[in-house]
This record gives sequence, structure tokens and C-alpha cells, in this order.
Amino acid sequence: MRSSKLFTLLPFVHLAIAQNTWTFVPQGNSGIVPLELITLSPTLALMYDRPYANPLKLPNGESAWAGLWHFNNNSATPLDTITNTFCAGGAFISNGTLVAVGGQALDNIAGGGMAEDGRMGIRLFGPCTSADGSGPGCTVFEDPETLHLVVTRWYPTGLRIPDGSLMIIGGSDILTTFNALNISQNNYEFFPPRAGEEGTVRPSKFLNDTLPANLFPRSMVLPSGHVLMISNNQSVIYDIETNTELQRLPELPNGVRIGVPFDGFAQLLPLSGPDYEPTVLVCGGSNKPDTITLAEMSVNDSATTQCSRITVKTSAHEFHVAVP
Ligand SMILES: *[C@@H]1O[C@H](CO)[C@@H](O)[C@H](O)[C@H]1NC(C)=O
Ligand SMILES: *[C@@H]1O[C@H](CO)[C@@H](O)[C@H](O)[C@H]1NC(C)=O
Ligand SMILES: *[C@@H]1O[C@H](CO)[C@@H](O)[C@H](O)[C@H]1NC(C)=O
Ligand SMILES: *[C@@H]1O[C@H](CO)[C@@H](O)[C@H](O)[C@H]1NC(C)=O
Ligand SMILES: *[C@@H]1O[C@H](CO)[C@@H](O)[C@H](O)[C@H]1NC(C)=O
Ligand SMILES: *[C@@H]1O[C@H](CO)[C@@H](O)[C@H](O)[C@H]1NC(C)=O
Repeated sequence: MRSSKLFTLLPFVHLAIAQNTWTFVPQGNSGIVPLELITLSPTLALMYDRPYANPLKLPNGESAWAGLWHFNNNSATPLDTITNTFCAGGAFISNGTLVAVGGQALDNIAGGGMAEDGRMGIRLFGPCTSADGSGPGCTVFEDPETLHLVVTRWYPTGLRIPDGSLMIIGGSDILTTFNALNISQNNYEFFPPRAGEEGTVRPSKFLNDTLPANLFPRSMVLPSGHVLMISNNQSVIYDIETNTELQRLPELPNGVRIGVPFDGFAQLLPLSGPDYEPTVLVCGGSNKPDTITLAEMSVNDSATTQCSRITVKTSAHEFHVAVP
């Protein structure tokens, strides 16, 4: 039976994990805080931090705020960067280059004054094909004068799209807890820029409508090639080629919101044949109203335990959204 309530609660699942427990084993010191961390290969991970007086030093003796982690010997080597990577977004594009975008403005905390404004930053890394992280492609390429975003973005999402490029979604002009109309980048841009769109952004009604909790919108590409974005308690299916919102999906149930500052996550589940219908799982976040003030928020407020999922059907030239 189909329900009109299209996001459903999943029953609690009790997993038989009694024998398997995780333990933390300290192994080496990264020398920076790997706020943004991504595995590059069996031997390497890349780490971006906020510029501080970090123990990880560049050859010139200055503190690094980026580095490579070596899984072979649990140690870090520094990477030279120009702009402030704190609060950046990004993803791999199809030629194997990791593209980090946006970040934080000038930062003078704790010895971090050495980084340039990162909010329009574009940082290219790789492909780094050597096991030890040396050689071509294994350094961060930045040229802030000539290679930068169209607008400033703090907390943007980066999403690889079907043509192999990066879609850059939203963000704020400045560090903030809640976004606001006068600082929100309610728009998208692409790297590399799409033909005819160099130096421009695409306004987004969806991001405007999901203020003030529209930072780091959870985003994924569907098998149709369209982009599903979830922000605050709303979701949209966006067609990149025609620059149109095809459909708003139902709101997340029970007042739950994801996205900064409510956090939570959304994940496209593995696709299976014969229909490869995409199902998206949305877990965590908060059921606080988005009108709550910072003063009313407490570390003691629980996050939600809710998981919901939605299956997006893409047949017959229209979308049918249903509970499986
Ligand atoms: C990958 O593509 C980007 C965007 O076009 C480009 O800037 C970069 O140089 C490319 N990297 C390689 C290794 O070709
Ligand atoms: C760890 O391995 C990397 C890559 O081979 C090397 O550059 C680095 O010097 C090693 N570090 C230590 C502490 O042995
Ligand atoms: C944005 O508007 C708020 C009031 O709604 C104000 O407090 C704040 O200073 C403004 N920020 C900027 C950057 O103009
Ligand atoms: C964005 O939202 C504000 C209200 O928060 C509204 O006044 C404005 O018209 C909206 N802009 C667009 C382009 O939808
Ligand atoms: C979604 O959030 C809006 C305010 O941002 C609120 O008016 C609406 O009731 C919420 N929807 C649900 C299902 O909680
Ligand atoms: C959170 O709860 C603890 C334990 O009850 C209490 O000591 C603390 O003051 C609370 N913190 C806030 C910010 O409410």
C-alpha cells in the first residue's frame, strides 16, 4: 500500500555486534588536525586543517595547514598551501584531481595569520600516482590571482556531476552558525566553468527557501543525471542541463532538519537491478525549529535518532516518489 507520507521511519534495527568492538590505537601524529580528510590511495590520505601554529612544519620552518598521511609508516608530510582551507568543500573530478573549494577568510587565531583569504579558493591536488606522495601531481596547486571561485563561499558543498566537473553549491559569505539572506550564497557555480557561464553563478530558489539552515547542503547525483539536494527539511531534484528545479520532494518528517547547524547526513544507497531506483537514507540531524536562536541551543540538546528514506522513481518522464 502506498502512503501519502513519503518519508517513512525505519524500524530500529538491533545488530548482533556483541563480540565486535572498536578500540582506538594511537599511531603517530598528524601534526595538523585533519578536519578535511580523504583517502587517495592504499598508501596516502590528504588532510586539510585551519591555519594554526601547527607542529607539522614546512621545509622553511613555517607551520603547515595541509599534509599527506602515510599509511605505510603512520606519519605526515606537509603540503604547501596558500589560502585558508578551513570550512572548505570539494570532491574528486573525473580526471582524478581533488578540487577543494571555498574556505575561511583571514584568520589570526593561534598563529594562523599566514594564510590568505580562502573563501574563493580553488585548490587542485593530483592525481598523485606515486606510493610515497612525491613527484608530479603530489603538491597542491593554487593561484588565487587567476584561479578562483566567482563568489566567496564558506561551507559550500562540492559534488562531481555526470560531465566530470564539480558543481559547487551554496555557502555563506562569512563564518556563521545560521546562514542569513544578506550573507548566503544562494547560488551554484561549476569548476571548470560551463561554456558561456564563465564568471557567473546560477541563482538557487531552493537554497533561498531553505534559509537559515542551508549550509553544506547534502547532495548527490541520481542515475538520471539529476542532482538531489537536501537542505534544512526540504529536498529538490535539480536538472543541471536545463537549470530547473524538476521537483520538490516531501519535507523530512517529524520536524527533522539536516544541514548545518543541525548536521545529520544523507546517503544514496547502493543501486541494484533491474531498475536501479535510487533510495536515499537520511539519518540524524535535529528536530529543533530553525527559528531557534544560538542562545537557546545547548550541548545537552539531543540529536534525533530518526532515519528516513525516500525512493525516487524516474520512469515515464515524470518522477514518482514512493515508499518502497
Ligand atoms: C583536471 O581538470 C582540471 C579542470 O579542467 C584542470 O585544472 C587540471 O589541470 C586537470 N588535471 C590534470 C592532471 O590534467
Ligand atoms: C614515511 O613514508 C614516507 C613515504 O615513503 C616518507 O616520505 C617519510 O619520510 C616516512 N616518514 C618516516 C617518519 O619514516
Ligand atoms: C545581516 O543582517 C543582520 C540582521 O538581520 C545584521 O545583524 C548583520 O550585520 C548583517 N550582516 C551583514 C554582513 O551585512
Ligand atoms: C529569498 O527569500 C526572501 C525571504 O527570505 C524573499 O524576500 C526573496 O524574494 C527570495 N528571493 C528569491 C529569488 O526567491
Ligand atoms: C519545515 O520547516 C518549515 C520552516 O522552515 C516549517 O514551516 C515546516 O513546518 C517544516 N515541515 C515539517 C514537516 O516539519
Ligand atoms: C548540561 O548538562 C550538565 C549535566 O546535567 C550540566 O552540568 C550542564 O550545566 C549542562 N550544560 C548546559 C549548557 O546546559
